[in-house]
Amino acid sequence: MNNQNYDKLLDLFQNRRSCRRFKSDPVPEEMILKIIDAARWAPSGFNTQPWEFVVLREDRCRNEIVRITASYWEDCVEMEKARADWQGRKWELKGMTNEPGDYSQAPVYIILFGDSRYLDALPMGVQSDHHRKRLIYQSSLANAFSYMQLAATSLGLGAQWYSAVQTPKSALLIKDFLGVPQDFDVYDMMALGFPAITPPKKPLRKLEEIVHWEDGNEGCFPTDEKVRDFVKKTRAWVTGVHKKKAAE
Ligand SMILES: Cc1cc2nc3c(=O)[nH]c(=O)nc-3n(C[C@H](O)[C@H](O)[C@H](O)COP(=O)(O)O)c2cc1C
Repeated sequence: MNNQNYDKLLDLFQNRRSCRRFKSDPVPEEMILKIIDAARWAPSGFNTQPWEFVVLREDRCRNEIVRITASYWEDCVEMEKARADWQGRKWELKGMTNEPGDYSQAPVYIILFGDSRYLDALPMGVQSDHHRKRLIYQSSLANAFSYMQLAATSLGLGAQWYSAVQTPKSALLIKDFLGVPQDFDVYDMMALGFPAITPPKKPLRKLEEIVHWEDGNEGCFPTDEKVRDFVKKTRAWVTGVHKKKAAE
């Protein structure tokens, strides 16, 4: 069996890591367009393609996004008071980061918006099921976003998800600032640029632990204790406690 295509693809997947520190070098427009062109090819539920992309390169625009979302992390840190003790230390860091980083320094932001009007193309059986309709919409946008991430990696660029744009306050003000209709949904924002660091290895759940064949899988899924162990491990990694210990 010739695995060359798979090997290349896996290599791309393994190289795609969240990058949270960027060089100030500008990203050529051609690269930005290639990234969005790749996203156009993402699968979407019933080929609805419910997406729009807004690219921000000017300091004026990027700074406004930083300003609008600034209070998000303060709220997040305060809400950590409610975290159960067994999970380990609470968030203290500014931003979701496991290495020193600052998305605000990225020279390009791409915000992906969803336009739910395209969901009119869904079969009526799906449209009448609010939960499923929402899932199809979110999954389609997630696919587009993942394609963007992979395209960025293939071009030697680094990218970070920046979900603070999704809060009601951020979404409202960002749409107002950008002149995007309020009926649109903010899916997520990609901070993009040439990477200034190599991300640390991340804890990865093992293949044999997550694959289950055929029937009779009773007792094969992780116990509560095992899940809790992983929750502790991945939280420790994300919050930076054990960043040097992270294994494959
Ligand atoms: C839906 C989603 C939302 C995310 N939001 C953020 C975010 O707001 N800030 C951030 O720094 N990383 C964010 N991430 C990136 C994850 O933290 C990251 O993918 C994860 O820790 C694994 O690391 P890796 O991307 O380097 O493989 C998000 C990822 C996903 C899939």
